[in-house]
Amino acid sequence: MAENGFQGALTYIYDPAILLRLTSFQAEYKNGVTPLNPGETLKLRPLCLEDYDKGYLQLLSQLTSVGDVTREQFEDRFNKMKACDDTYYVTVIEDTTSKQVIGSATLVKEQKFIHRSTARARVEDVVVNDSYRGKQLGKVLVDVLVSLGRELGCYKVSLECKDHNVKFYTIFGFEAGKGQNYMQIRFFD
Ligand SMILES: CC(C)(COP(=O)(O)OP(=O)(O)OC[C@H]1O[C@@H](n2cnc3c(N)ncnc32)[C@H](O)[C@@H]1OP(=O)(O)O)[C@@H](O)C(=O)NCCC(=O)NCCS
Repeated sequence: MAENGFQGALTYIYDPAILLRLTSFQAEYKNGVTPLNPGETLKLRPLCLEDYDKGYLQLLSQLTSVGDVTREQFEDRFNKMKACDDTYYVTVIEDTTSKQVIGSATLVKEQKFIHRSTARARVEDVVVNDSYRGKQLGKVLVDVLVSLGRELGCYKVSLECKDHNVKFYTIFGFEAGKGQNYMQIRFFD
């Protein structure tokens, strides 16, 4: 175990030390939960290459269609994302007792010329394992991502969500942009 509490032998998708520098959390928590300490056996950290064996894709299948992703495909995608420095902040919560990833959310940082050549951030793929819902873990994940977006210098953070999740995201200050529309063309599921 490294000095900062993150295991040195693991391959993280981004530098875990970034999480320890975050200070601008917004949400209020119950039951002693804090963003960097979400529970006695729970560890918040960046996604690791090793998470293929810790149920990461099974967790994502509680959010949407994942399909068959081989270890080779997972590793290839992970390495490509990691190589895009300062872009993919895939953040997970592991239950260290069961060694399973039980929550995940991603912040994608998109570089821009506009807004003084800064960046915008998007929150994507927020999911908590259904046996762990209602324990403030979704709140922890989104709070951490918003804080990351702010502290990485993004001029805004946005997301798309279903109607029934709108109230959840208002906790962090997200609001529908006046006169803004979300449009899409879907090529496949
Ligand atoms: C949405 C989701 C991530 C919430 O995770 P969670 O761990 O159960 O949420 P939390 O326990 O952190 O909830 C935090 C607060 O938000 C509230 N909340 C949670 N989900 C909510 C929702 N859909 N609508 C309104 N409020 C919600 C909780 O009641 C709680 O309130 P409290 O702090 O006053 O007790 C989880 O339900 C999930 O994974 N759903 C399936 C995937 C999904 O829809 N993802 C979002 C894609 S946009």
